[in-house]
Amino acid sequence: MSAVTPSPETERDAHKRMAAEAAVKLVEDGMVVGVGTGSTATFAIEALARRHREGLRFMGIPTSERSAARATALGIPLTSFAVHRQIDLTIDGADEVERDTLNLIKGLGGALLREKIVAAASRHFAIIVDGVKLVDRLGSRVPVPVEVVEFGLEPTWAALEALGATVRPRLSPEGKPFITDGGNRILDCGFASISDPGWLEERIGRIVGVVESGLFIGRADSVFVADAAGVRRLGNPHAAI
Ligand code: 5RP
Repeated sequence: MSAVTPSPETERDAHKRMAAEAAVKLVEDGMVVGVGTGSTATFAIEALARRHREGLRFMGIPTSERSAARATALGIPLTSFAVHRQIDLTIDGADEVERDTLNLIKGLGGALLREKIVAAASRHFAIIVDGVKLVDRLGSRVPVPVEVVEFGLEPTWAALEALGATVRPRLSPEGKPFITDGGNRILDCGFASISDPGWLEERIGRIVGVVESGLFIGRADSVFVADAAGVRRLGNPHAAI
């Protein structure tokens, strides 16, 4: 049997890991921690697992089945909203961060609904990104993922187009319709450049058939950004944790 050589960590991966490590330092004994989804959040899960092995006591509420499986495999104790209605600190990735407002686009990993529920229940919502994700205006690099119910997908799609979106249905790597943890579909909506993300979030949310959008407006308390110069924290450095 030939041994599988792990692929070397790329520079971007190193930056993601640095941001994750910095945010995980915020975790304190006894906290309930929201556990994000995606490649950057996976570095945070690894750092959380290490701190747990070192003796820190905390419990996680995961934002996806994928993150739940990873956290469980690494020995992180999990809890649920049935037991804990409030989360002390959530650490999650993002696809774009608007540098002046810290508004976000999330959901390229497909977990936006649970991520937004977890963010809304969190006293502190910390975002971890590499420098590539910082933008002057949301929508410049990535589409806005919109989770929709399967029934009536076509009229929902048309309503999103009426808002100016170029709509693409999300597919799995096998080319089949992508199905979220909630059993829904995702329509990726290109808006080029979004001048009023709060207005857009509200208008998308009013469309019948839309479950949630990947616009996270006014939710991030701090953003840890890592690049070749190191890690910096944006937002209110004195925000309560
Ligand atoms: C998943 C997300 C992720 O946080 C986002 O897609 C960033 O992922 P990555 O760290 O892999 O770039 O919103 O729904």
